[in-house]
Amino acid sequence: MENMELPPRPKLFDFHGVSMTHYFTDNWENIQNFQARPDDILIATYPKAGTTWVSYILDLLYFGQTAPERQTSLPIYERVPFLESDFHILPPGTELADKLSSSPRLIKTHLPVQLVPKSFWEQNCRIVYVARNAKDNAVSYFHFDRMNQAQPEPGDWNNFLQRFMDGKMVFGSWYDHVTGWWEKKQSHSKILYLFYEDMVEDTGRELDRLCSFLGLSPSAEEKERVRGGVQFDNMKKNSMANYSTDKVMDFKISPFMRKGKVGDWKNHFTVAQSEQFDEDYKKKMKNTQLRFRGTI
Ligand code: A3P
Repeated sequence: MENMELPPRPKLFDFHGVSMTHYFTDNWENIQNFQARPDDILIATYPKAGTTWVSYILDLLYFGQTAPERQTSLPIYERVPFLESDFHILPPGTELADKLSSSPRLIKTHLPVQLVPKSFWEQNCRIVYVARNAKDNAVSYFHFDRMNQAQPEPGDWNNFLQRFMDGKMVFGSWYDHVTGWWEKKQSHSKILYLFYEDMVEDTGRELDRLCSFLGLSPSAEEKERVRGGVQFDNMKKNSMANYSTDKVMDFKISPFMRKGKVGDWKNHFTVAQSEQFDEDYKKKMKNTQLRFRGTI
């Protein structure tokens, strides 16, 4: 990390109505033409909602027993390609996905629902969406942007929060993302919509929901093994899951596995910020039945 010449932080621009950086649009033609397979599983999230957690759960459920070497030699971002990414230090996500020999392929995306390549719908793939309450999501995103050189400069917390409320984040507005996927789920039975807060509250219960959605029936012992392996403290010290092998993240600023809590927003929002946020939230979310918990 110390001696590596890093490119300057990317700038945000508008891309089909969504704020993006070039890392997620450079490979756009291949992304839109990506050929999904019917058994592909797409893990879709707004950034910092628990993507890595769910990716790791799925990886253990499918490959924990059949391919144990995968657990010690391949970082999670190579096992579960990030579809729209083109970071230049790794092959683009589409290429990594095309090269995956394991089946089913687990593929990660942060794309808002309207930008997902049409092949995933044509092939009727299963999709696991994870959503996290806006305040904790914003806090986690702030620390991530501080430590990740491949993200735009976050600025100070107050400015960042305003940008979050304005939807000027990489992958656009949190409000549009979570509600867009929620609406899609109402008419599409192959989407499982999970909440980060539920997963923290009772990982075993959410694991059961996942297994039933995926048609898996692991033994009680196997389920317990997965539940233990994906606990925050275990993932934090697992170099194949904690991103410590990534070159553009500076863990001295903030670790990737930072706190893993519900309600950490209380340590960041002032009372005034919280009130203003809630006021604005009510307006932005007035047309949806979608409800989040900011504490558990
Ligand atoms: P915090 O920054 O609040 O700690 P993503 O994978 O989408 O980038 O999300 C990262 C967030 O999920 C971070 O939140 C991270 O700590 C949290 N996370 C990752 N693994 C977790 C786990 N096993 N349990 C709880 N939270 C987890």
